[in-house]
Amino acid sequence: MLKNSIQIGTMTLHNRLVMPPMATYKTLNGGTVNAALCDYYADRARDGRIGLIITEHTCISPEGLAGKGQMSMMDDSVIEPAKKLTEVIKASGSKAVCQLNHAGSATNETLTGMQIVSASAVPCPGRKKELETDMLPKELTKEEILKLEEAFAQAALRAKKAGYDGVEIHSAHGYLLNQFYSPLTNKRQDEYGCGCMENRLRFAIETVKRTRELVGEDYPIFLRLGGCDYMEGGSTIEDAVEAAKLLEAAGVDCIDLSGGMCRFMRPGHNEPGYFSDMSAAVKAAVQIPVILTGGIKTAAQAEELLEKGAADLIGVGRPILADAQWAEKEMKKSMSDFTHFNEQGRAKMVDVNEKSITKRTAIAAGRVLVNKDTFALIRSGGMKKGDVLTVAQIAGVMGAKRTPDLIPMCHPILIDGINLDLSLDEERCSVEIQATVSCSGRTGVEMEALTAVSTACLTVYDMCKAVQKDMVIADIRLLKKTGGVHGDFERK
Ligand SMILES: Cc1cc2nc3c(=O)[nH]c(=O)nc-3n(C[C@H](O)[C@H](O)[C@H](O)COP(=O)(O)O)c2cc1C
Repeated sequence: MLKNSIQIGTMTLHNRLVMPPMATYKTLNGGTVNAALCDYYADRARDGRIGLIITEHTCISPEGLAGKGQMSMMDDSVIEPAKKLTEVIKASGSKAVCQLNHAGSATNETLTGMQIVSASAVPCPGRKKELETDMLPKELTKEEILKLEEAFAQAALRAKKAGYDGVEIHSAHGYLLNQFYSPLTNKRQDEYGCGCMENRLRFAIETVKRTRELVGEDYPIFLRLGGCDYMEGGSTIEDAVEAAKLLEAAGVDCIDLSGGMCRFMRPGHNEPGYFSDMSAAVKAAVQIPVILTGGIKTAAQAEELLEKGAADLIGVGRPILADAQWAEKEMKKSMSDFTHFNEQGRAKMVDVNEKSITKRTAIAAGRVLVNKDTFALIRSGGMKKGDVLTVAQIAGVMGAKRTPDLIPMCHPILIDGINLDLSLDEERCSVEIQATVSCSGRTGVEMEALTAVSTACLTVYDMCKAVQKDMVIADIRLLKKTGGVHGDFERK
């Protein structure tokens, strides 16, 4: 599942691995992107195995600066340098999303040279130790809130101009929007107050709506929600569920879950996916994709959480921070997970239940969404390059047969059969493709099925591209896999 593509709004990710935002504070000149920052992201993006890179929190207004050297989207001068950063990330095939933030009271006046602000004049439990100050924040007026909503939206527009594929509004880890959401820091009595969830989220939702007006309908907007404070009197998992539903209704394309006033750690927990109780509850309540991050150290752990339905995407932070090649090593490893060796050093194919395998079958499916005119053209057989579906079918079969060249550590391929089923879905205006692949004597049949479907989808996409630019490949996924018994193979 981790290797399956996924659609977020209009954005297609080639897999479900996310590098979550992690502040490096590498910029020097007023938050402008520099070579050190580009190199850092280029190292992690290089092998193209991370579907989505969300860059570190980026400041939207001077009094909201969270730390020295923090990236900025505060004025137009940062756009041009930021284009270099989005280029290096996107060159690998990853998508780039810019996280936008205002620290609220989780900063101090020595750093910003300005008075700190928040929902209410109370101390922020989410503040970092090094930012401790005796000064209480000033409660923002309604007029000031509206100005900051505009600042978020203008920053989002700059991120779009800089080539980012989407933006993420930061409402977690005890920063400003989180301070409005959490009952620990929001003591207001007005329409932005803690009386009900609509009020606690009003600032965030108005920000999303203004951002939508500026960036357009088809530009992905994520929101990182500090869903639960895990503190007495703080926000709860039930709150996170209610909030996610309101955010989805407001037009957010993806909920990226993390902690609130406890920041990105959960007290007393360090198991893989330590926010998974919250993410599973949120995922069950919304249609939009949900990202789970926290404590996940291997691709196998990520895979297990996806299989369990804890989330749609998995963020891996500190392991990727510590090792730029983490994704390359782990994603390769998970492909050969099913190969075990017996006492004679001979490789034995086993399925997930440790049963040996002779024959495996996998069925994968995918869709290419086109507009009405392109659909009519395909249906009438009028595509210029001939019969698009037949070509896709051939391409799909060829794609599956080529997989062993692409993955050299796999055992020799023995494909028994590939069957591609292509159909046109009038209602969804899409070309639907299904691949059934069976193999003997090797694992990874699901890879073959997915490769066949992806190749066929890409072929349809390429062939239609001449007539339509904004189509999407959606929903490439494994539908079913089965394995047999017995099997013993020479180790190569
Ligand atoms: C050094 C560092 C910087 C971070 N900076 C940010 C940030 O800018 N924005 C954010 O939303 N989360 C930030 N985080 C939290 C991570 O995105 C992630 O949620 C956290 O590291 C937990 O995931 P992990 O266990 O995979 O590391 C940061 C974490 C670390 C370790």
